[in-house]
This record gives sequence, structure tokens and C-alpha cells, in this order.
Amino acid sequence: MDLGLNGARVVVTGASRGIGRAIAGVFAAEGADLAVCARSAEPLERAAGELRGTGRRVVAEALDVADADALRAFVDRAAAELGGIDAVVSNVSAGSAAGPDMWERGLATDVLPFVRVCEYAEPHLAASERGGAIVLVSTTSALHTSAPSGPKAYGAVKAALNHHAAALARTLPAKGIRVNTVSPGPIEFPGGGWERRRAEQPDFYASIRSRIPAGRLGRPEEVARAVAFLASPASSFTTGANLVVDGGFLDRV
Ligand SMILES: NC(=O)c1ccc[n+]([C@@H]2O[C@H](COP(=O)([O-])OP(=O)(O)OC[C@H]3O[C@@H](n4cnc5c(N)ncnc54)[C@H](OP(=O)(O)O)[C@@H]3O)[C@@H](O)[C@H]2O)c1
Repeated sequence: MDLGLNGARVVVTGASRGIGRAIAGVFAAEGADLAVCARSAEPLERAAGELRGTGRRVVAEALDVADADALRAFVDRAAAELGGIDAVVSNVSAGSAAGPDMWERGLATDVLPFVRVCEYAEPHLAASERGGAIVLVSTTSALHTSAPSGPKAYGAVKAALNHHAAALARTLPAKGIRVNTVSPGPIEFPGGGWERRRAEQPDFYASIRSRIPAGRLGRPEEVARAVAFLASPASSFTTGANLVVDGGFLDRV
């Protein structure tokens, strides 16, 4: 199936490692040009260099998405240097670690940046001749309360984002923009949280893996391909979906 992403202009937040890096890689492999960001410049530049190796144009900017002015400038730069924006993937999160400031971090790094990036990108996406697309990277922790979710900010904050994405998914199609969500279950990769838990909390890691019917944790590329599909013209009549990518982890109808 041709996803129709060749020559598309795609913004991905948090693309220097993990799921965001895999998402950028799948878009580049599909022929899309990219604008990517992360806070640390050196790993971001390394990722951008690898992505440029595919022959695609890549704009890379080191910034904290919690900085509204920097986020707006990044979106504007992406549109100017790529000649427009066809798709935005909001991938950054404050993460699932508990702590006294977890609610503030969730608001600053998950909620407000998603709300803002949708606003900032909207005029560019509305001008897309392919049809604009927004994809939120959420989590299965927003869809249940058992471990590893629990009474922490992470799942609640992502649930709030699911709601906003679903509401936008019904208002923005009037402007030619679709909005969808991808909800990964536990995803393991070198340097990621689940690799660390496997080493530091082996019993907890094993208890989670035992609840995944696929018998293993997921891989970033398995999430990335779902994101690329929902961001692409191949899913042109899909808006408001929440595509769970979890190997059967969630026990719900
Ligand atoms: N891994 C999982 O098991 C899993 C499961 C379900 C859902 N998810 C979701 O998938 C997404 C990616 O998760 P991941 O595990 O791949 O995360 P990760 O390994 O922590 O990578 C996050 C990326 O975002 C960047 N980043 C973090 N905070 C940022 C900020 N404030 N401003 C700009 N860039 C920032 C990081 O680079 P810097 O640190 O240099 O900024 C990095 O490139 C998140 O939304 C997460 O909730 C992950």
C-alpha cells in the first residue's frame, strides 16, 4: 500500500530517540521531509544526520516544548523551510515517573504543548493539499488504571489529551485536518524506560510482560508504522480514532 507520504512535510516532537526517533525514521523511509525537535542538541543532531542520510530534508531544533515561544518559532520555521506542513506528530511527554511535581510536569510538558502545537500548526495544516493530519502519541495508561498506570499524573494527563484530540477530531475536519491518537502499550528499546525496569525491577517487568498476550513488549517501529498510517492520506476518512498498539495488553472491549 502506498501511504502517499512521498514529499510530505511532517513535524515530529521529541524525535532524538525511542518512539519519536522511530516515527521520524518511518516518515523518512516513506519519502517525507521532516522537522524534528528535542531538548538535547547533540543526540538530536545525530538523529537528524542519520535522517538526512535518507536524502530527505530535515530541520532540527533543540528546544523544550514547554516553552511556548520556542514551540511556535519551531512550527513557523518548519513551515518556512519545508514549504508548508502536512502532518504534526505530538510525541513528547513528561513521562510516567511519579514525584511531587508530576502534575505540574504533565501540564507543562504534555497538555499545554499538545494544545499549542495544534493551534500553531492549524493554518499550515489547513493549507495542505494532501489534507492536514495531527497524530497524538498517547498511552494505554490513559485507558486503564492498573499497573503500570495507577494514581499518577501520567495516565490522567494523557486521558485529558485523548479527550482534546477526540474533540478536535470532530471540529478540524471542516478545515481539512484529521486528528487521531495512537496509544502504545509498553515499548522497549535500548536506553528506554522498560529496558531500565527490566534491569532494576525484574519482577515488575516480568509481571507486565506476562500480561501481554503477544509474549513480549513492543518495539518503537511497531508504533511508528501506526502513526505514519494515521498521518498519511491512506487514512483520509479516519478522524477521532484511538489506535491501540499493545500486543493485546489492554483487557477491555
Ligand atoms: N516507551 C513506552 O513504553 C511508551 C508506552 C506508551 C506510550 N509512550 C509514549 O510515547 C512517547 C515517546 O516515549 P519514549 O519512551 O520514546 O520517550 P523517551 O525515550 O523519553 O524519548 C522522548 C523524546 O522526547 C524528547 N523530549 C523529552 N522531553 C522534551 C521536552 N520537554 N521538549 C522537547 N523534547 C523533549 C527527548 O529528548 P530530550 O530528552 O533530549 O529532550 C526524546 O527525543 C511519549 O509520549 C510516551 O508517553 C511510551
